Amino acid sequence: SDSQAIPQTSTGTDESVMGHFDHGLTLALSKGRILKETLPLLKNAGIELLEDPDKSRKLIFPTTHPLVRILILRASDVPAYVENGAADVGVAGKDVLMEYGAQNVYELIDLKIANCRLMTAGRVDAEGHWQKPTGRLKIATKYVNLTRQYYASRGEQVDVIKLYGSMELAPLVGLGDLIVDVVDTGNTLRANGLAPFDVIAQISSRLIVNKASYKRKQAVLSPILAGIEAAIG
Ligand code: ATP
Ligand code: PRP
Ligand code: MG
Repeated sequence: SDSQAIPQTSTGTDESVMGHFDHGLTLALSKGRILKETLPLLKNAGIELLEDPDKSRKLIFPTTHPLVRILILRASDVPAYVENGAADVGVAGKDVLMEYGAQNVYELIDLKIANCRLMTAGRVDAEGHWQKPTGRLKIATKYVNLTRQYYASRGEQVDVIKLYGSMELAPLVGLGDLIVDVVDTGNTLRANGLAPFDVIAQISSRLIVNKASYKRKQAVLSPILAGIEAAIG
């Protein structure tokens, strides 16, 4: 391969992508549905990406707003960046926020995007019946904290198996009796012979702000928040 010759492509000396950006505002978003559904809201606040993140390997993106840059992260990493002040503002699903349990952030706006439900689901027979096991329930999920809280609140002792994705597979191959995952259309459950059972929480994405940034960067922040709020459906 030609991997020895790493081209020194110009990423510019623009401060927004070169580290020091303390005077500006750093937003943390995740690729996929949150990015797609947040962009129109940001546009209403005068913020547009100068480059398409789907066509770039970069992780920091300058915008049309000289004081705003955007970080592209894994959805589940957004709270950590905002809580620690590495990003001033973030957009994350309520599922991710509840699971992470972020301190040090304000959950300011329900953006009403990426709507879904956090549910239990399991494998059912042709009649749609689920076979409850005799012993302790085994639950496979990436939401281990939420799952423990949910069953504890119902006084039920369960074993939780931590997964990182494709939860729908687990019960099909005997890894757990139930899953806890987000459900929208139910297509993924149906396609895998699973059925939805209990709704644990209604989920939408929220705008979160680091508490110190909220005080210190009020001047840049407040017109942006107003622009976003005005665009919510
Ligand atoms: P990661 O890449 O870190 O594994 P992820 O798969 O959860 O994260 P996305 O699929 O982009 O990332 O989901 C982001 C958020 O969108 C979730 O936290 C949830 O709130 C919501 N969401 C997930 N799946 C759906 C769906 N099928 N329909 C609507 N909203 C969804
Ligand atoms: C999410 C979620 C479910 C599915 C639910 O997966 O993890 O698998 O959507 O949506 P549905 O009820 O409409 O089928 P996603 O599309 O984010 O894929 P992923 O595995 O890449 O996270
Ligand atoms: Mg997903």
